[in-house]
Amino acid sequence: KSLVVAVDGPSGSGKSSVSKAVAQRLGLAFLDTGAMYRSVAWHCINAQINLEDAVAVEAAARTIKMEQSMVPETEFFKVNGVNVTDAIREPKISAAVSSVATTLGARAELVRRQQALIADHGHRIVVEGRDITTVVAPLAEARLILTASEEARLRRRGLQLGGTQTAEQLAEQVLERDAKDATVVDFQRAADGVYTVDSSDLDFEETINAVIAVVRR
Ligand code: CDP
Repeated sequence: KSLVVAVDGPSGSGKSSVSKAVAQRLGLAFLDTGAMYRSVAWHCINAQINLEDAVAVEAAARTIKMEQSMVPETEFFKVNGVNVTDAIREPKISAAVSSVATTLGARAELVRRQQALIADHGHRIVVEGRDITTVVAPLAEARLILTASEEARLRRRGLQLGGTQTAEQLAEQVLERDAKDATVVDFQRAADGVYTVDSSDLDFEETINAVIAVVRR
């Protein structure tokens, strides 16, 4: 029986780690769609493709080979056979990824690939991103937005990056990226039938339980 869990939310909301843990507990596959946008950005930088050139970015999204682990226990991403698991998390990529996200042709291609991956996994999967509840899987059995206060999101992202960033760098990476993303996808406001889980005052375990409670409704 199909069980697609669609999770959207802003940067630093804990989306990835929570979604992964939920997939593990429910025995579902897991898809991190942000990593696909990051992979295209990585490829463009690596191949010296101008990120402002929409035609070239769309062509890159269409032609690169992307492989990724879809089991929540292991994480890896490959672009044309190159392991980019760590490289796609670098600040340089975080800064460049909005150019891919705002290229509509690239989005269309990534949405198509994501829908194919969901089908390949028998529609038993947790999918996280920005447009999953609205565009990629609007018919998902469970749809939710995972959010948190700006303060909580900056704090979490800072911890995740190991305290290597200044407050300004963090704000630039988190808030500016959210603002750019919001110009193409409305991931902050829950569409009809979409639940909101605010994790500002919840710890990791409590957040996982809150999401599972939504899935079981
Ligand atoms: O982990 P974090 O929330 O910082 O970002 P991510 O989930 O890795 O996504 C990176 C970027 O990809 C986002 O800032 C968006 O620009 C883009 N993205 C998107 O446009 N649509 C998605 N479904 C997922 C990510």
